Amino acid sequence: MRIVNFGSLNIDKTYSVPHIVQEGETISSLDYQEFVGGKGLNQSIAIARAGGQVWHAGLIGQEDGNVLLQALEDSGVHTEFVENRPIASGHTIIQVDNEGKNSIIVSGGANRAIDELYIDKVLSHFSAGDLLLLQNEVSCFSKIIDKAHKKGLKIYLNPSPMDDEVLSADLNKIDCFLINEIEGQILTGEKDASKIMHAMQAQYPESSLVLTLGAEGSYYQNGDQQIFIPSLKVKAIDTTGAGDTFCGYFIANLTRGKIVEESMKRASRAASLACTVKGASNSIPMREEIY
Ligand code: RIB
Repeated sequence: MRIVNFGSLNIDKTYSVPHIVQEGETISSLDYQEFVGGKGLNQSIAIARAGGQVWHAGLIGQEDGNVLLQALEDSGVHTEFVENRPIASGHTIIQVDNEGKNSIIVSGGANRAIDELYIDKVLSHFSAGDLLLLQNEVSCFSKIIDKAHKKGLKIYLNPSPMDDEVLSADLNKIDCFLINEIEGQILTGEKDASKIMHAMQAQYPESSLVLTLGAEGSYYQNGDQQIFIPSLKVKAIDTTGAGDTFCGYFIANLTRGKIVEESMKRASRAASLACTVKGASNSIPMREEIY
């Protein structure tokens, strides 16, 4: 089984702030740094650092994208499908407060230039039984799902950031949802974790589910099987990319033949460790740090 990750690549412009800025307020940042990020890029790097083989599919800016491509290559992600376009790369404005909590504005840039021609070109290299990983920071979200499903790929979806694009897609085609509580609430209308899981099972009986609850822990559900993994207690410096680290580690370990419980444990530990370092992809631990 090969993994193809259709995903965003962003330059994260990250401001350390005493608190997340309120409506009408102006505050001074305590620090400013640029990091390599994007949910897609972070997840590909997490897969590679966990020991998986992943082909990244995504678009970068001709002038400013090299740093993104280089970061994928440095971590051992296959990059032959990454292309550039004569526009700016995606970027984000991220505020990180004293407790490591963040707020993010995404400017899609080249991530929004993905079109059907590009999807077809990439998917022509994959076949039934391969795994598609997808988030919601690239254009043609539904088309990617429909085309991959038609070819018989298994689809693992992290529907983040959640918006109408996700809600209007045919989510019955998803084999595994990787969601947090907020995404679970929007998908099901439920607030409590156990009710979210129950509702997800009723809505998508053929799909498995990973529900992450931050410091509380994470659940896996597939039919009658349910697993809970408590989170490692850490002092959070920056939670940016922790969810991506979880997704990447979980998928990499599963495809390397680990059982679900072990894959969840490793994903949970990797995500906790990612919270102890500032930045996105640079905070993803190496697999030697996990075991
Ligand atoms: O999930 C974290 C990521 O979300 C950041 O790296 C940022 O680029 C946004 O896409």
